[in-house]
Amino acid sequence: MLNLNDQKELRKRRTFAIISHPDAGKTTLTEKMLLFSKVIHTSGTIKGRGNGKYVKSDWMSIEKKRGISVTTSIIKFSYKNTLMNLLDTPGHQDFSEDTYRILTAVDSCLLVIDAAKGIEDRTKKLMNVSRINNTPVITFINKLDRDSLDPIELLDQIEKHLKLNCVPITWPISCGKNFRGVYHFYDDMVYLFQKNNNKKNNILNSKVLFFKFNEFLLKKYIDQDLFFQFSEELKLITAIYSKYNKKNFLKSITTPVFFGSALSNFGIDHILDSLINWAPSPIYRISNLRKVDPKEKKFTGFVFKIQANMDLRHRDRIAFMRIVSGKYIKGMKLRHVRIKKDIIISDAFSFLAGERFVINEAYAGDVIGIHNHGTIKIGDTFTEGEEINFINMPSFSPEIFRCVFLKNPFQKKQLKKGLLQLSEEGAIQVFYPINNNDIILGAIGILQFDVVIERLKMEYKINAIYEKTNIMLARWITSANKEILHEFKSKNKSFLAFDNFNHLIYLAPNQIHLNLIMTRYTGISFEKIRR
Ligand code: G4P
Repeated sequence: MLNLNDQKELRKRRTFAIISHPDAGKTTLTEKMLLFSKVIHTSGTIKGRGNGKYVKSDWMSIEKKRGISVTTSIIKFSYKNTLMNLLDTPGHQDFSEDTYRILTAVDSCLLVIDAAKGIEDRTKKLMNVSRINNTPVITFINKLDRDSLDPIELLDQIEKHLKLNCVPITWPISCGKNFRGVYHFYDDMVYLFQKNNNKKNNILNSKVLFFKFNEFLLKKYIDQDLFFQFSEELKLITAIYSKYNKKNFLKSITTPVFFGSALSNFGIDHILDSLINWAPSPIYRISNLRKVDPKEKKFTGFVFKIQANMDLRHRDRIAFMRIVSGKYIKGMKLRHVRIKKDIIISDAFSFLAGERFVINEAYAGDVIGIHNHGTIKIGDTFTEGEEINFINMPSFSPEIFRCVFLKNPFQKKQLKKGLLQLSEEGAIQVFYPINNNDIILGAIGILQFDVVIERLKMEYKINAIYEKTNIMLARWITSANKEILHEFKSKNKSFLAFDNFNHLIYLAPNQIHLNLIMTRYTGISFEKIRR
């Protein structure tokens, strides 16, 4: 077991990610959390991606051309003596399999929903991934300063689409032009809202007025009709929704729900306090042999992301490792379990977005970067000698496909080698159809294709181009029955391929086709996720 001091360090940590559909307010909320924790002093630092101090990465010309961030940011900040590791999930065009994998490295998620739009497509996808590990979710319904959907309708959507039971912790007093603030069920306080949409605003000029719930006092601030409507709503909410229960939250059966406006700094402290009080400190992970407790003395960790060329001056590859147990100490010897080799880690680093800092120690829940000279794969486990493997690093079936062609056909061998390495790093998925010599690439976000072409050119001196294919969906194929599998393979060769790890995959032209084949072959499993 870790000594008491180290266990204290562990309890201080919260490792979480923000889940949201683009434009729901993830960047604004991140920025405001940094503002509240005094890491930055004015808003607008993060918003100008590429120019901002904290989301800076300029490692590839693609990023420069498009002014977006391809690299994952890990933002570390402390609030009320709690150490937050916020793992940023690539969002807009840079949405990729990495976004999904990051969710396997966190202990809780903060779900941000745009109050006017409700549950959107990307939120559903990300939540499906977070549900695989039953990660606890705290919900923030944002933009209450604008006209919103009915709050009960929003909670209905969460319950219906995300299969989470809602536990309202705060409740809005109207919305849009009439938004007056929130009532906090657990503090029994009213927090009044004062509109402040100045994008450069900071905490100092947006002091929130709050008081213990009191009918007479509240009536001073809101008119009779609004008061009547609000008190009726409170009665209804108290009757319909259950109260916060830690066990159900940690099992991801319920989600505590908060309302606010990130842009106006309203409700941010409620979210931060809920992360401190309710989100779990680093939790155990399951390995192939046993459950690993973060309090164990010996170091264990797994790699969930590999990033190439983070820094043009270094031109290197970095493996991002989530520490599961024990403590990292500079210069320690770690076992790279898959390749059965011991290595001395003398220069692990921590990140503040684009910047990296060599660190002397780190604890479970922290993410450290180590140099990767081409030997580390996504999902690799590092220990102090124990031969275990963490088994929860999934591959997600791609959503877009391209056929890759060489400009110089004599480079086929190099192309295959390059693609193997890039797929081991999780940059792209590669499929070799059984019936022809095409090479199909699959990705979750469109930008992954551009990154791959650019990296093939820069790192492997390969000039390649893409052509569209008619493939729309991919499912990994398994069956417990060898005969059924054999028959399936021989009859469907033209739709089957092998991935780079020799797993059979079905490449379908559309959903109707896939549905038909799935009903025809009930003895075959068509998996969206491969573990
Ligand atoms: P994202 O990272 O989830 O994609 O969202 P982001 O924070 O960039 O927010 C998307 C837009 O929504 C931004 O406006 C932002 O200012 C606005 N926004 C975020 N939170 C709130 C809120 O509480 N209330 C209101 N009214 N707006 C909010 P934009 O005009 O698209 O971008 P910008 O010009 O502000 O950069």
